[in-house]
Amino acid sequence: MSADVIDGKAFAGRVREKVAAHVAQMKADHNITPGLAVVLVGEDPASQVYVRSKGKQTVEAGMNSYEHKLDADTSEEVLLAMIDKLNADPAVHGILVQLPLPSHLDEDLVINRIAPEKDVDGFHISNVGLLGTGQKSMVPCTPLGCLLMLRDYHGSLSGMNAVVIGRSNIVGKPMAQLLLNDSCTVTIAHSRTKNLADVVRGADIVVAAVGRPEMVPGDWIKKGASVIDVGINRIEGEGGKTKLVGDVDYESCASVAGAITPVPGGVGPMTIACLLANTVTACCRINGLPESEDFSS
Ligand code: GUN
Repeated sequence: MSADVIDGKAFAGRVREKVAAHVAQMKADHNITPGLAVVLVGEDPASQVYVRSKGKQTVEAGMNSYEHKLDADTSEEVLLAMIDKLNADPAVHGILVQLPLPSHLDEDLVINRIAPEKDVDGFHISNVGLLGTGQKSMVPCTPLGCLLMLRDYHGSLSGMNAVVIGRSNIVGKPMAQLLLNDSCTVTIAHSRTKNLADVVRGADIVVAAVGRPEMVPGDWIKKGASVIDVGINRIEGEGGKTKLVGDVDYESCASVAGAITPVPGGVGPMTIACLLANTVTACCRINGLPESEDFSS
């Protein structure tokens, strides 16, 4: 048996089309253009690539993109003042501060300074609390992308056993919460979990978000399970060439799973698509307009 491949690239393209259509409608009906501000502190090369890609896709969806690049030695005071200004700016509906921040800056303090209604990352403590209590919130983009793909593939997730490997605030914890809100029975596994193989073997849905290349082998996967691979790891492949791999061993997992996301082309493209969707959602809520059901959690 070979698993169905969940094509995140194609799915993300459809989400972006829906976002663009919604944006066009908002412009035509209300003369409102959603705006996303991205703040990058320092020169981390991977972050620079992400920020460029976010800006490009924001504009392609018909929205306004505001990029703010600050030096690596920017003080907390200056960064917080910039966030205050963006919070007060009516043209800005979404604010994203690219992580990780340089070590002299307090990430929690910075994230919690963003107005919760503009927190398109869903990292603000208010949004974490709202999601945790099943209330309307801004939802972190990567877990939202995983959820939308799972719902699209399965329809209802109710009653399924889900194992999330990884307990980060950005992916693992919100992912578990979203699956619980969709009535899955959820286990969060992590580096201290005992008998991880057996825990994973009980799962109908496996979400791997640990950042360890190919750590989940096929013999941990229940026959027919859905495997969502959040990992993006660069390893040395044949001939010394760099190769992108996920957190699951694709070949062996695909031979037992019912469905699997590839790396690249699975979860990755969904993250920015969901960021665009969250920006539209934030803009609708701020302006009291109806939201799209297509990309809500
Ligand atoms: N760095 C890596 N992933 C993310 C993300 O989803 N949001 C932000 N703000 N920074 C990141």
